[in-house]
Amino acid sequence: MITLGIEGTAHTLGVGIVDAEGRVLANVLDMYRPPEGGIHPREAANHHAQVAPMLLKKAWEEAGMGPKDIDLVSFSQGPGLGPCLRTAATVARSLALKLEVPIMGVNHCIAHLEIGTVSTGCQDPVLLYASGGNTQVIAHSNGRYRIFGETLDIGIGNMFDKLGRELGLGYYSGPAIEKLAAKGEELLDLPYSVKGMDVSFSGMMTAALALHSQGKRLEDICYSLQENCFSMLAEVTERAMAHIGKEEVLLGGGVVQNKRLRRMIQEMAEERGAEMFVPEPRLCVDNGAMIAWTGCVMHQAGIRMDISDTKVNQRFRTDEVDIIWK
Ligand code: FE2
Repeated sequence: MITLGIEGTAHTLGVGIVDAEGRVLANVLDMYRPPEGGIHPREAANHHAQVAPMLLKKAWEEAGMGPKDIDLVSFSQGPGLGPCLRTAATVARSLALKLEVPIMGVNHCIAHLEIGTVSTGCQDPVLLYASGGNTQVIAHSNGRYRIFGETLDIGIGNMFDKLGRELGLGYYSGPAIEKLAAKGEELLDLPYSVKGMDVSFSGMMTAALALHSQGKRLEDICYSLQENCFSMLAEVTERAMAHIGKEEVLLGGGVVQNKRLRRMIQEMAEERGAEMFVPEPRLCVDNGAMIAWTGCVMHQAGIRMDISDTKVNQRFRTDEVDIIWK
């Protein structure tokens, strides 16, 4: 069975094609880059509508097949930005109706977990999902993917991007912050906001900006920022692993490209006698292959959807989905 998946929850439109064993046959994407400021949802959605035909063509070329070879169309049903979700869903519905194949709406966060599991060969991990819009610690327990910890306000990547813009580091500023952090020497005082199993990032940005206006070195601010918020993530991930007794930690989301974060999680895992798994970069970021694979897994488990079931859900929670395929 060949599944085509369309990802469109936020800044990226992605199209992926996978087979029934989870082999990625195509995975192409195009990221919306706002001329200035943050993402305007409507403008990102316009971008997605514009690039969709080109990406579909590119995906078929990469997979060496055509529309007639597709047996199932899946798409990111949520969570995400309304206009972006609706655009991706519209592309998926048109395609499924035109090709006369079934359609499947997929939870975006679960898709990160499923593609990470199949591509790295881990069995039953705790996922640390750290991206622009989402920051969650997720694991399978009692028939659902449960959220064991999450951000109470903004995603960690969103905080990096907002701070980067204020400091003149450009838009997707995670890599610029990582580079500066590598030259940091002094650990500055920033709020360490772990609340129960959850984390909070919005106050940290305000505190980092205050340090900047006090004349602290940018390198030290970025260094302290990384040390602080990655420690917070490592702490809640470790507690989730200890609580449910899991010995694998899987990374997902754009922020896990950061080498310092990986090293910290790796050290935590090693100290516990656990193992860390990291998918290749193009499967860590938002991508169509993860949506295709999750759609395929759901279909194989017997789940079916009509067009009337494909309404998007901006606040689609990870733990809303019955995981009948595990
Ligand atoms: Fe994501």
